[in-house]
Amino acid sequence: MAGIGHEEKLCLKGKEMAEFNTLSDAYLVIENGRFADYGKMNDCPLTSDNEEVVDANGGSVLPSWCDSHTHIVYAGSREQEFVDKIRGLSYAEIAKRGGGILNSADRLHELSEEELYQQAMKRVDEIIRKGTGCVEIKSGYGLNVEDELKMLRVIRRIKKTTRLKVVATFLGAHAVSRKYKGRQDAYVELIINEMIPAVGDEKLAEFIDVFCDTGFFTPEETARILKAGATYDMHPKIHADELASSGGVKVGVEYKAVSVDHLESMTEEEIDILKNSETMPTALPGTSFFLNLPFALGRKIIDRGLPLVLASDYNPGSTPSGDMKFIVSLGCIKMRLMPAEAINAATLNGACAMGLSKEYGSITRGKVANFFITDTIPSIEFIPYAYTTPIIKRVFLQGEEYV
Ligand code: NIG
Ligand code: FE
Repeated sequence: MAGIGHEEKLCLKGKEMAEFNTLSDAYLVIENGRFADYGKMNDCPLTSDNEEVVDANGGSVLPSWCDSHTHIVYAGSREQEFVDKIRGLSYAEIAKRGGGILNSADRLHELSEEELYQQAMKRVDEIIRKGTGCVEIKSGYGLNVEDELKMLRVIRRIKKTTRLKVVATFLGAHAVSRKYKGRQDAYVELIINEMIPAVGDEKLAEFIDVFCDTGFFTPEETARILKAGATYDMHPKIHADELASSGGVKVGVEYKAVSVDHLESMTEEEIDILKNSETMPTALPGTSFFLNLPFALGRKIIDRGLPLVLASDYNPGSTPSGDMKFIVSLGCIKMRLMPAEAINAATLNGACAMGLSKEYGSITRGKVANFFITDTIPSIEFIPYAYTTPIIKRVFLQGEEYV
């Protein structure tokens, strides 16, 4: 059993990120969907008479992945752009031509809420089977009031119909819609005056996000949107420094963002901005891998005493995968994280970046029993090492097996 304890800590920083408690030959008691107790098998207080017993069969038990950044509610797919990228076009060039996010918005507009839900549920099923137990899902392919609400209602339905823990983020400021082409100011007004109140009135989102980057939204626009979101109790999470070092980290820290995410182009000076803040730097190495971008400075972030989060960014354009085990491998291979650091970044720290670490992210007495059991593995380090081996064999959400 691994990823145990952390009673005191809601997030791990710097050297603490290597703290990873394991217990071999262990028992784990679950009551009412929560971790009640654990210890060495020799001390196990229970007899199997009136309990349901699950034998891990020599496998390891880990807390579920907490994926704090995804866009898994979307319509169709964008493999044609994948081919364009192989031919040499960049993500930014595709977006400039009207592809990218706008392409997904056109497709989403055509779909009914029911169809969108069905498509998203396939991805939900996929990530649960790959070990994710908590997930953040963003809107941002609607780009008008109706379609943004459609996305957020789908997210609400996923919350209600699965045992996966889900939090919702409003991302109306993902791109300027086709209708508002050349009128970015007017689109920002639409977000502030119509979208945010509509989302806020229905209480559809806990968080608010802005794609604050070159060619998308400026730090000034981001600040205005975050202020408007705050009046409806939506906490900021920012897309920052994906395409260029463009001010997103600074504005995120100023507005007390829960996290600033992407950071592929973040400079060393910006690491200093994050010091003395509560904002969690979140790296999305799947995006770096898929778009051939630089990897965020994860090693440096930890070495300077900061926390680090790893998340998938699962979306149709920049990384169509929600495989958190692979994300953990990329963290190790491409960012030189130690396996324990990477696993903590994808569990407890991921939960923290969703405001959920009191309840999720580690095997801790009282927390919700979301966990998975692996095949027999020689060590915890084997998890990121065997980077395509499907070692996750059984998954449990709220203490119940997902089959
Ligand atoms: O996080 N960077 C902005 N948004 C997404 C990509 C969205 C898309 O291409 O559909 C991201 O990478
Ligand atoms: Fe994203």
